[in-house]
Amino acid sequence: MYRTNTCGELRISDVGKEVTLAGWVQRSRKMGGMTFVDLRDRYGITQIVFNNEVDAALCDKANTLGREWVVAVTGTVAERSSKNAHLDTGDIEIIASNLKVLNRSEIPPFTIEDNTDGGDDLRMKYRYLDLRRSAVRKNLELRHRICFELRRYLNEHNFLEVETPILIKSTPEGARDFVVPSRMNPGQFYALPQSPQLYKQLLMVSGFDRYFQIAKCFRDEDLRADRQPEFTQIDCEMSFVEQEDVLNLFEGMMKHIFKYVKNIDFNEPFPRMTWADAMKYYGSDKPDIRFGMTFVELKDLTEGKNFVVFDSAEYVGAICAKGCAAYTRKQIDELTEFVKRPQIGAKGLVWVKFEQDGSVKSSVGKFYSDDELRAWGERAGAENGDLLLILAGTTMKMRKALGELRLEMGNRLGLRDKSVYAPLWVIDFPLFEWDDETQRFYAMHHPFTSPNPDDVPFLKTDPGKVRATAYDMVVNGVELGGGSIRIHDSELQNTMFELLGFTKEQAENQFGFLMNAFKFGAPPHGGLAFGLDRVVSILAELDTIRDVIAFPKNNSGRDVMNDAPGGISQEQLDELFIKLNLPE
Ligand code: AMO
Repeated sequence: MYRTNTCGELRISDVGKEVTLAGWVQRSRKMGGMTFVDLRDRYGITQIVFNNEVDAALCDKANTLGREWVVAVTGTVAERSSKNAHLDTGDIEIIASNLKVLNRSEIPPFTIEDNTDGGDDLRMKYRYLDLRRSAVRKNLELRHRICFELRRYLNEHNFLEVETPILIKSTPEGARDFVVPSRMNPGQFYALPQSPQLYKQLLMVSGFDRYFQIAKCFRDEDLRADRQPEFTQIDCEMSFVEQEDVLNLFEGMMKHIFKYVKNIDFNEPFPRMTWADAMKYYGSDKPDIRFGMTFVELKDLTEGKNFVVFDSAEYVGAICAKGCAAYTRKQIDELTEFVKRPQIGAKGLVWVKFEQDGSVKSSVGKFYSDDELRAWGERAGAENGDLLLILAGTTMKMRKALGELRLEMGNRLGLRDKSVYAPLWVIDFPLFEWDDETQRFYAMHHPFTSPNPDDVPFLKTDPGKVRATAYDMVVNGVELGGGSIRIHDSELQNTMFELLGFTKEQAENQFGFLMNAFKFGAPPHGGLAFGLDRVVSILAELDTIRDVIAFPKNNSGRDVMNDAPGGISQEQLDELFIKLNLPE
């Protein structure tokens, strides 16, 4: 037997017991005639004591131990004279009577401690060592608990867990596919699923009624803090449901997870906001509603005073930053630089300060009287001491820019506490998104999303006006999940393909199998998918999903630990009939 107990287990009630522990040497210190070793495993750290006066040979052996050596120690549990309140095992120590070295270790490239000296790249290269750190391991333990709880919830609600293939025919979800060449079918390729979307719809045709899968998905898209090229969805689909059924069931799932994983109760229903309101008041389809600072529109109040920037703008919008009238020139300049960044795209920032003494100052003071400026403030709910920040330009672009500015102000004012959770549903998304560049409509969610029945008459006349029965769950400004009620009628589905610019042949070629299936009694159905990595990172109060994935990729999509992707041999290429055509 390698061990009788784990390194996180022993307490004062175990004093006097003879035990054997096994683990890694976190640290060893020599103090006078004593050597103290902190022994670590997944469960915790226990202090081991070797006494030179009791057993000099054993103590000498302990003095040879290096960091991260793997050892087994036998000894007696004793009460510690100087207790360590930071450790669960801090009341006891093991007086060692035997020590077995199970394996040596080279000196690790960084310290395996919560506050490590290792930089990001180094830790990713040696991810298996990084994972020994409790700060990282805890995130994966949380991930496990979340998966366990959501399986419990979904099982209790009659969902069946079904696996769907990884080597598939391309399923468009808006990103590029990763492709895999087929040796047995020269010149042909599988795609890796961007999601199991079509399979779960087929399972509904098969009568499975309620499906879920913790599914690996693959998307070749630009990476960000909340995007990995391979990620995991909690993918779900239900038959004979309307939007209301889906929202209720999955709101219940999130509440279940919050309760059983974080011990947080949500007693009220999650708020619901239409996409149109989310854009109008927050400039984002994933509003962070932990704080207010909602937009007000000032176009009507600003017009006709010879300020060309506002007069020529389609949209003039403002946020009110509470208590920020004392912002210095430097702080305002920083905000101006912020909104002028290319990815935000505002041309400039107009401000109005409502000073504590009741006076008003503004960057556009020469165009507007104090009373006019006060009328803007009134609309925005500004009081003495507040700062109004105003952007002007085209409506959608400025709303998005103001949305970014709002989040920036939220950060600066400490309004985005990670331990506070503000979930909501965003509903009534538009069905289509117009793309100026290609001059055509794209499905905002995916081509299988059904239009709002009230808007079907506009499908052919004014597609931009049609709302979808699509919904997203948003928490703290992060889109955790999204889905829709699907089209289950092949005629309506064909109309959708037509509107999306697919020819009959293209639609048949790409989705023929789904359209065929729909001929054999497809039930009304709908569902959604949550991004598991995002759910875990939000609950772990982290900024990036990388920290909740055991072996993540970096921002260039590389696994720096095993140096993937890499080339393959000429032999492998030949077998696949592939000739490379690399740029010079
Ligand atoms: P969607 O494309 O909105 O919907 O994806 C669902 C959820 O998956 C997560 N997600 C990601 N997480 C990490 N890295 C990525 N690259 C990434 N892309 C998406 C997000 C997102 O909300 N088939 C539909 C769902 C449905 O209609 O049922 C779908 O995939 O949290």
